[in-house]
Amino acid sequence: MTSGPGRLRVGVLASGRGSNLQALLDASARPGYPAEVVLVISDRERAAALDRARAAGVEALFVNPKDFGDREAFDLALVREFTARGVGLVCNAGYMRILSVAYVRAFAGRAMNIHPSLLPAFPGLHAQRQALEHGAKVTGVTVHFVDDGPVDTGPIILQASVLVQADDTEDSLSARILAEEHRLYPEAVRLFAEGRLEVVGRRVIIR
Ligand code: GRF
Repeated sequence: MTSGPGRLRVGVLASGRGSNLQALLDASARPGYPAEVVLVISDRERAAALDRARAAGVEALFVNPKDFGDREAFDLALVREFTARGVGLVCNAGYMRILSVAYVRAFAGRAMNIHPSLLPAFPGLHAQRQALEHGAKVTGVTVHFVDDGPVDTGPIILQASVLVQADDTEDSLSARILAEEHRLYPEAVRLFAEGRLEVVGRRVIIR
């Protein structure tokens, strides 16, 4: 992985297979990319995301929620780990826990999430299934800042649409959305690292 002064230090929270993390790791390795993933934390010891981080030479940490009395204490431990490594942006990439207000405040304007729908449609779990069950003709992907709303509510940074096909299953639709996720997340991080995102009320202006 190329490292260098002046690159934005990025922390990633991931609970599962980590394909979005991989997209960020791959972007970090590209010449001229202005950000680098420096720490990946998972709440699941066997998350494939941790293996992906290690394979890329990036520090990978399992933090066990059971070691903490409540969600806030756990989240504040995450804040400490990221802060200790000089992380300037934290990215949720398939992170399956709801973040406490304390975490969101600690990283206000510096935390992103990726969600597999065109928010505000279909927030929460199984967004692709929700889109199919609703009969949506178009769905997609959203990268947004994390705020302290219920779930998937923060200011929208980037979106990309995906057409729903008549014969789509949850798997086939998820796969096409995922391809867009892998393109969009590194792009959002790049815009942030270049200082080109300005939040004005609920809107994110790209400079
Ligand atoms: C992605 O669809 C992401 O949008 C959602 O959870 C999934 C995580 O996939 N939040 P992966 O772990 O990045 O492969």
